[in-house]
Amino acid sequence: MGYFKPVNIGGLFVPTPIIQGGMGVGISLSGLASAVANQGAIGVISVAGIGMIYKEAGVGFLENSINGLRTEIRKARKLSSGILGVNIMVALSNFDDMVRTSIEEGIDVVFCGAGLPLDLPKYLTPESQTKLVPIVSSARAAALLCNKWLANYNYLPDAIVVEGPKAGGHLGFKLEQTTDPNFALEKLIPEVVKVVNEIGLNNGKTIPVIAAGGIYTGADMARIMALGASAVQMGTRFVTTHECDASDEFKQAYLQAKIEDVKIIQSPVGMPGRAINSQFLLDVEAGKRHPKACPVNCIRTCDIKTAPYCIMASLTSALRGNFNRGGYAFAGSNVWRCNEIVSVKELVQTLRDEYSDFVEKGISDFMSRIKRRTAFARTRNFKLAAMDSFSTDQLKERLAQLTFPFLGFPLR
Ligand SMILES: Cc1cc2nc3c(=O)[nH]c(=O)nc-3n(C[C@H](O)[C@H](O)[C@H](O)COP(=O)(O)O)c2cc1C
Repeated sequence: MGYFKPVNIGGLFVPTPIIQGGMGVGISLSGLASAVANQGAIGVISVAGIGMIYKEAGVGFLENSINGLRTEIRKARKLSSGILGVNIMVALSNFDDMVRTSIEEGIDVVFCGAGLPLDLPKYLTPESQTKLVPIVSSARAAALLCNKWLANYNYLPDAIVVEGPKAGGHLGFKLEQTTDPNFALEKLIPEVVKVVNEIGLNNGKTIPVIAAGGIYTGADMARIMALGASAVQMGTRFVTTHECDASDEFKQAYLQAKIEDVKIIQSPVGMPGRAINSQFLLDVEAGKRHPKACPVNCIRTCDIKTAPYCIMASLTSALRGNFNRGGYAFAGSNVWRCNEIVSVKELVQTLRDEYSDFVEKGISDFMSRIKRRTAFARTRNFKLAAMDSFSTDQLKERLAQLTFPFLGFPLR
């Protein structure tokens, strides 16, 4: 029996409550996104650097990016009839182009992180069905964004992703906050859920909260969903799949990473990021790297005069597996746990099984607690008609339908 509960994102019914996090440059394209969508989850194409992958001679980066995105969305649509999203970093200088193209192509969901997408609803057209999902790192940012969207566009997010400090890629935290328990995902989720539920309730909209960052197993999923998240977003775990669009060398870097190789770096984007150490990063730290030129002006917040290296060039190198002179791989805090390459189908099945085992264990712990209490109450001659009228199986079924907090999970 499976216990995954579907999630409703602005009317889109997602049977498997998993979002595959968008991963640039070139790590999550149509191959990974369509495979994930085929498992009833949301598969996400990252637009970051797509114009470097689709390099047509004589055509500029901006046009290549638009053409590349259209091609990837269309390819994914051919491979899956499931739910597809795009991930667009707010810091991208071609943010406008990328959002407009995605909506024109009829993408199901636009996810926006690395900055607050305060004007995202302005891109919706009367005929568009696209759902809008911002990525935030605090309850304050969630409230600010909801209130701005309401005031300016009379629109609320269709869901909100909360990305905690254990995530891979760019992090919405100061360096010292990444290890501070006050900023842990387990702390952030109930805070965001509270704020967002209040705003949603006052405006007649349910806004599911999606937890991201450091979620590795089905038990992790169940634990964070017991705290109020309606779904999870996972990145790292999807890299070591056959369908991931990265090179074999990139996937091998994941398999070979040890816990001590995972580090926080300062990215030219102006945010910290989590990555696997490489000779390239050691050279950057030693001051041996200096960008010669800015090839495509990809990031609004990056300044060639002060940037220690070109992020677009290094992530494009990493995609091809060049970690010595070329670049480095972004990765989540759990990357050292990756030890095999599996299919997306196998991965989702494993997560489903682990999740169900965790829920089953929660139910049986809860039932033994009730039985102990019932036995105790009987010794005191209390009336227990309601309890006695349920058979064990009926009780189990009822419990499975209840929301997690009732199960009294031993939350870690
Ligand atoms: C290689 C890599 C690239 C990423 N690129 C992006 C990106 O382009 N935009 C973005 O919003 N998040 C990006 N992320 C973050 C993921 O979408 C996801 O939220 C995060 O990795 C979740 O944490 P986990 O890896 O521990 O599961 C990236 C993560 C990784 C590992």
